[in-house]
Amino acid sequence: MTIIEPAWASEPDHKVLVARVRDAFVAKYGVEPDGVWSAPGRLNLLGEYIDFLGGSCMPMPLPYRTYVAGRLRRDGVLRAESVQMPGDERTVVIRDIHPGNLKGWFTYVAGVAWSLNQEAGDITLPAEFGADLMIDSNVPVGGGLSSSAAIECSTVLALMDLSVTLRQQVLDASSANGELRARLAQVCIRAENKVAGAHTGGLDQTASLRSAPGQALVVDFRDFSLQPVDVDLESAGLSFLVVNTNTPHELAGGEFAARRAVTECATQALGLAYLRDALPDDLRCAGLGEAEAKQWRLAAIDDLTNKAMVAMDSVTRCTEAPRGWVRHAFHDMCLVERAAYVISVADAQSPAAWSELGNLFTESFVSMRDELQVSRPEINTAVDACLDAGALGSRIVGGGFGGAVMALVETDSLYAVSQAVADAYAARGYASPEFLPMSPGFPAQRDH
Ligand code: GLA
Repeated sequence: MTIIEPAWASEPDHKVLVARVRDAFVAKYGVEPDGVWSAPGRLNLLGEYIDFLGGSCMPMPLPYRTYVAGRLRRDGVLRAESVQMPGDERTVVIRDIHPGNLKGWFTYVAGVAWSLNQEAGDITLPAEFGADLMIDSNVPVGGGLSSSAAIECSTVLALMDLSVTLRQQVLDASSANGELRARLAQVCIRAENKVAGAHTGGLDQTASLRSAPGQALVVDFRDFSLQPVDVDLESAGLSFLVVNTNTPHELAGGEFAARRAVTECATQALGLAYLRDALPDDLRCAGLGEAEAKQWRLAAIDDLTNKAMVAMDSVTRCTEAPRGWVRHAFHDMCLVERAAYVISVADAQSPAAWSELGNLFTESFVSMRDELQVSRPEINTAVDACLDAGALGSRIVGGGFGGAVMALVETDSLYAVSQAVADAYAARGYASPEFLPMSPGFPAQRDH
């Protein structure tokens, strides 16, 4: 039998990547850029398809980032090329950008310029503002790790900083300025919704612009408030394994929008501002053990799903909504808040807490596979192989239909688990998956 070596990506070297995008800029435009900016993809630990319903999600920044080198122009023109698409130069006059008139990867760049100009005067782009950009990214595209937000968020910082010389006032877009970062996240969300045409929520852009280095965030999407969470896996001898299954997903398609529409129908049918408001305020089940907390949550979820389905029956456009899509939303809302609590009490001496965290991940996966129906055979194979090889838990990351899988594993068995996944893929004749080393990530910033 041939032994399949698991394919591990190399550990990203931030300094080298900053220099690489700068060099690519010089090679194309023949001058030095005015600056380099970058923004990370995110690993969402838990909470899928609930950001747009006011649920809480738990993302952390990845070490994989998108880099943008840029130089100011004063003729209102935006020009960009990407190292990943050599020769595919795109140019547009900023005031001519409109939802629907651009296509492909450039919509994530130009969409940000358009979206900034929908804002109040203090952050709109001066009329003569233009820029030349070079983009380079090591966030897997279509991997559920938020490659689109990484382009948007690195671009928005580049455009804000480059426009400073043309402005009357100074704008500090560093991560110290949380208020401006929160507005810029909204700018990027609008760019993705309106110009790129993906009706996604705010998870990815919030994680990319507003995370704290090396930490997870619990983001309450009712008001976008943040609570940083220390996930100290290292002292417990644990690690996250991230597998890019190389089965790309596409969220601008109808499947994501269909699930969003159904769950928003449930919100409306229940007469609420956010579906999250249907659940009790406190979902932590603090003080309850794993089994009792699970029992409580499953009863609450079933009860509310029944109520929502009845209410939806009387709203014409909500009838025949798949029950599982609604149930999943309530389910993941409960799981995130329990997980945040479990992490807060977990330490190196509490294997039961880490084991419960793993189970919460797998419970979310089962809901995404069976209720929300966003898995596919390659994903199921990766999750099953991780669990069979001893992972504490495993799940899809992001919007599903392909993309990445993550697992919570003992650090000592990281390579054995990756081997098990590689073997399972080879046995089924699937394309080889790629394993992504996880060092701590940090939020979007100016690098140079
Ligand atoms: C994508 C979207 C997010 C979120 C996730 C699913 O990443 O961009 O807003 O809805 O899917 O949790």
